Amino acid sequence: MPPSPPSFPLELALVGAGRVGTAVARLLARRGHRISGVWSRTPGSAERAAVELSTRAAPLEELSGDLWLMGVTDDAIASLATRLVSRVHAGAVVCHFAGALGTAPLRAFDAAEAWGCALHPVQSCPEVAVAVRRLPGSAWGVTCAPPLERWCRALIEDELEGLAVVVDEGDRPLWHAAAVTVANGISALMSTGETMLEALAAPARDVLAPLAGGALENARERGAAASLTGPIVRGDAAVIARHLEALRQRAPGLLPAYVAASRLVLVRARDAGRIGDDTSLQVAEVLDRAWS
Ligand SMILES: NC(=O)c1ccc[n+]([C@@H]2O[C@H](COP(=O)([O-])OP(=O)(O)OC[C@H]3O[C@@H](n4cnc5c(N)ncnc54)[C@H](OP(=O)(O)O)[C@@H]3O)[C@@H](O)[C@H]2O)c1
Repeated sequence: MPPSPPSFPLELALVGAGRVGTAVARLLARRGHRISGVWSRTPGSAERAAVELSTRAAPLEELSGDLWLMGVTDDAIASLATRLVSRVHAGAVVCHFAGALGTAPLRAFDAAEAWGCALHPVQSCPEVAVAVRRLPGSAWGVTCAPPLERWCRALIEDELEGLAVVVDEGDRPLWHAAAVTVANGISALMSTGETMLEALAAPARDVLAPLAGGALENARERGAAASLTGPIVRGDAAVIARHLEALRQRAPGLLPAYVAASRLVLVRARDAGRIGDDTSLQVAEVLDRAWS
């Protein structure tokens, strides 16, 4: 077992100047942790992050730290770990941010008696400034050896103002699947609705974004399944048939997406007990006839 993890404030090293790593470094710097330097594969990325973090861009061999933030893409973590291991001192903590991976890609650090942990922010981070704004208040999936859990919880909850949720190593893929389903599912549904409204030359985003915001608020306040509304949970097959007819006439390319989304609603409504078997069958039959 490695020696005790470092006490706060920490000296940080950022390896991989991507959006998440840079944002985490910035949030930690705001809390008084010191950034020793940043390395990235592309010198321009390191320089940009160094300016943003008021630190220096440096070769990997010149970095030092109590906490190493590996901000690289998932596939680069294990190979970078083998390059980094000689720089990391006993008791230091090395983390990555990938959702589907646990501590396995960090095994190289066992030889250095350093701690490895996977800290996955359950948030959408399209750029550094947005990530800095959104990460406080977000949940983090934490996977590490049990003696490090308290330390990770303090880092996430006290220093990053997030919610730490311990996830077993083997549960990471399912954890990540849930996050990806929600984040991309919302975007895919919005994009489908926007394309439908384009056929009417309506200001699609202005029309649909407030609706999506309301639906999310309902799901947060009342629970997602309890918030399902519309013709499927009302069992109104006639309205669904009219939707299908309109799509056949005006936007036939979107029929498969509408039917797939409706089938998902149907399954979730039935599993949550919002509709009975008869209604479920009736709606399923209308959807099955979508192309006829
Ligand atoms: N963005 C999100 O919404 C989000 C949310 C949750 C978790 N995550 C996780 O956070 C981690 C970082 O994601 P990100 O979105 O911050 O990534 P990103 O902005 O795309 O940056 C990734 C960085 O990885 C470096 N890199 C790529 N391939 C490399 C290689 N083969 N060797 C060394 N470095 C390499 C790049 O360095 P150069 O620029 O120097 O080339 C780049 O700066 C990932 O594990 C991701 O799954 C992301």
